[in-house]
Amino acid sequence: MCGIVGYTGNEQAEQILIEALKRLEYRGYDSAGIAVLTASGLEVVKSAGEIRNLEKKLQNRELTGVMGIAHTRWATHGSPSDRNAHPHTDCTGKIALVHNGIIENYQELRAGLIERGHTFTSETDSEVIVHLIEEKYHHFKKESDTDNALLNAVMETIPLLEGSFAIVVAAEDEDYLVGAREKSPLVVGVGSEENFLASDVSPLLKYTSEVVYLNDGEVVRLDRKGFRILDREGRDVRPEIRTVEWKAEDAEKGGYEHFMLKEIHEQVESLHNSFIGMTGENFPLSGMLRTLVPYLSAIEIIGCGTSYNAGVIGKYFIESLTRIPVTVSFASEYRYSSPVDITPLVIAISQSGETADTLAAVREAKRRGSVTVAVTNVIGSTITREADFTLYTRAGPEIGVAATKTFTAQVMVLCMFGLRLSEAKGRDPAKLERIESALRSAPRLVQKVLDNTEAIKKTARFLSKFSSMFFIGRGINYPTAVEGALKLKEISYIHAEAYPAGELKHGPLALLSPETPVVALSAPDHVRDKLYSNVGEVCARKAPVIVVAEEGDETAGKYTDRVLNYPDCLPEIAPIPASVVLQLLAYYTAKERNCPIDKPRNLAKSVTVE
Ligand code: M6R
Repeated sequence: MCGIVGYTGNEQAEQILIEALKRLEYRGYDSAGIAVLTASGLEVVKSAGEIRNLEKKLQNRELTGVMGIAHTRWATHGSPSDRNAHPHTDCTGKIALVHNGIIENYQELRAGLIERGHTFTSETDSEVIVHLIEEKYHHFKKESDTDNALLNAVMETIPLLEGSFAIVVAAEDEDYLVGAREKSPLVVGVGSEENFLASDVSPLLKYTSEVVYLNDGEVVRLDRKGFRILDREGRDVRPEIRTVEWKAEDAEKGGYEHFMLKEIHEQVESLHNSFIGMTGENFPLSGMLRTLVPYLSAIEIIGCGTSYNAGVIGKYFIESLTRIPVTVSFASEYRYSSPVDITPLVIAISQSGETADTLAAVREAKRRGSVTVAVTNVIGSTITREADFTLYTRAGPEIGVAATKTFTAQVMVLCMFGLRLSEAKGRDPAKLERIESALRSAPRLVQKVLDNTEAIKKTARFLSKFSSMFFIGRGINYPTAVEGALKLKEISYIHAEAYPAGELKHGPLALLSPETPVVALSAPDHVRDKLYSNVGEVCARKAPVIVVAEEGDETAGKYTDRVLNYPDCLPEIAPIPASVVLQLLAYYTAKERNCPIDKPRNLAKSVTVE
């Protein structure tokens, strides 16, 4: 979704803001803009399309100044155009604003503002905010506390807004910025003689590792020398400054052609780190589990997209180890579902920790009386403040829109959580030790997949010519197939659907033909023979078959000569190396089709609206 950045310091703001916008590109956008306070006032330059279009405009119009705001817009209200791009300005052109989120009551506010004589220049919901601030600002400018006129104007505007927002505001006659958040993330970057505001930490890493995550309802006044945070009532809030461990290089391509490929390769490390984070003293929930286990009769996992798919793998794993029933719900469905008579432990999974549907589902789960555990990759993200407990995946920043390393890290954390839960329930220690040792070896398995990509590349060349395909699996490999199909469709734009293999004959078989390849996920488990019966049904319809199987599986070759192997491992952990095969398959297929792999059309990395 939209990216926001604000800078105040001693350096030229334009360069810093444009560089920062580039680091926010991964969030998805369709236009961009910048406002800098120059000697001749607040100057705004905006452009539809990519940041390079904005840069072209800036070549003819350099903005000299040390304070400014900038934005990448992901259109919700009004088409992607120069006019609708942010920053938006008030009627005088002296106040500029960037906004992420949706103002639900904007039509009513806009009608009132027009009646009071304001002129609008865009179709966006965001523009109402700057006109409201304008009215208040002029009022405060006439009062005694003129130093805080902009701050006070923003404070008075916020209660009028319904919906979600992170905003940053600059005014021509002020030497400070004002930021505010409500259900949309905003982070303060704390520098020396310079300070920043941004929608996430990635653009800040180059300048500082000290950050403050604002809470809902908070407003910040920020200048070169420092910042002050206020709550809804205008009381000062003591900032909790956190140190981000991610490095600027973590958010760069590091020689890889795409972030996605880099992130696929980083799984060796991210799996290891995520495993370690769930062992011994590092596991943060031992006490909580000991207290909870005697009363724990059900678990509900919630998430969206890839995080949901990781949750389904977690369900198979946790149920088989603990015998505790686990249901998995899409967060967008859970939040509107009817409460039932049991109160499960709720595990909410979100890589970004900012997904609007997942956050709303956590709030609903708490309202229903559930204890909530967040699984997220982003320290300090909103979900960590909403949920009762947090388990971190330790994958480092993920920039590619297609989730890869965070997915396998989520699977790792869920499996380890299942193990810790089993231990707390006093289950068979020898079995648990065997599985833990298999999970410990997951990075090695992934390394082997990464070392042998020729067959995957060849298969990708073959698949890239088709327009539709199916993925099938059974048991724990069914959700692996779903995730494989999601990866393929989002980056290669090939239609892909996943089914439990046994379901093919109940409908989808009607679509099979030599034009619809089927990717089958096999593991050395109790349903392997059943899977191959289904593969036989596919072959009979002359659909091309690709089998992803562990090394040494001799059955696969009887059905197809397109076999992609992952190293031999316990079937319980097969989803990890098998998913890496599918990620590479999607990546190379998309590459064959010249798709914009890191930034697929219409998608955003972090979906902060409902
Ligand atoms: O940040 P989250 O894990 O909450 O995001 C959920 C989905 O939007 C996300 O997993 C999405 O499906 C990915 N782009 C898939 O690769």
